[in-house]
Amino acid sequence: MRHHRGLLGLLVASLLRPSTGDTLDIEASLFLDSNCFDRYSELLLLDDGCYANLYTNLTKAFKLRIVGFTAPYKYDIYDYTDACHTQFSPKRTLTAGKCERFVGGYFVEMTNRLRSSTCVGQDCSRLAVTKQRFFSESMCVGLPYEVYTYPVQNECMRWSNGTQAFRVDPTTTNVTQVDYLVNDKCGGDLTREYVMSVGYCYELYPDRAPRSFKWEVERYDSTTISEAWRPAGLGLVQAAGMAAPLALLGSSRDL
Ligand SMILES: *[C@@H]1O[C@H](CO)[C@@H](O)[C@H](O)[C@H]1NC(C)=O
Ligand SMILES: *[C@@H]1O[C@H](CO)[C@@H](O)[C@H](O)[C@H]1NC(C)=O
Ligand SMILES: *[C@@H]1O[C@H](CO)[C@@H](O)[C@H](O)[C@H]1NC(C)=O
Repeated sequence: MRHHRGLLGLLVASLLRPSTGDTLDIEASLFLDSNCFDRYSELLLLDDGCYANLYTNLTKAFKLRIVGFTAPYKYDIYDYTDACHTQFSPKRTLTAGKCERFVGGYFVEMTNRLRSSTCVGQDCSRLAVTKQRFFSESMCVGLPYEVYTYPVQNECMRWSNGTQAFRVDPTTTNVTQVDYLVNDKCGGDLTREYVMSVGYCYELYPDRAPRSFKWEVERYDSTTISEAWRPAGLGLVQAAGMAAPLALLGSSRDL
């Protein structure tokens, strides 16, 4: 019964999506002043990602969520005293293209960036992500019942017992996860490292769900994109299929 409902939900979700595998990321330009004149840094952020708050010691994490999908785009910004469970202050809604207050005394100007295997040009997001899919069944069969998405450019993310960062080698063979235990800023000596084989099915609990999980990587591939330049429609279809075989599922928030 549960299985059946899940399948229906998946079908509905796929019908609602404009194009499978297309995701919006958030480009955030940080400034030191309230006129957004004095540039500080550039971030490319995952919608709904739980980022370690490196900008203040007052809170431990922040999160941006795209809430308005027609221009001018809107974003809810949250800050937390833990791994994105306990809010420190009420959420604020920020507008794209405006100079808005960020966290920790910084200011921000934001815009959306499309991440898609068929997106061409400078405005596309080239954020690479890993998806950790958990399955109720062993051997990673059936529908994943939980999917976690992380960026893999070594960004500092918040988790329950400290911070963590993910990276992937150039051949997309291994995802490396480093946990920084009880450290708020991805530093310190107390670390734990896990090297996971991309696409390999790891068995988990023998007697209860989740029984297995695997890691996949979605990253921009210039050879895939060059296919999309071809006038024939075939190249486009192939490009989309290759880069996002399981893209129907979207990020963990969609499930
Ligand atoms: C946070 O605290 C550490 C240690 O006290 C300090 O070195 C650092 O400058 C602080 N960072 C910010 C953003 O206030
Ligand atoms: C992937 O990880 C395995 C196990 O740690 C290691 O033997 C292998 O050299 C790694 N491959 C790459 C390309 O980093
Ligand atoms: C959190 O980190 C501390 C310090 O190393 C460790 O003793 C504890 O076992 C960790 N807890 C979890 C859930 O990993």
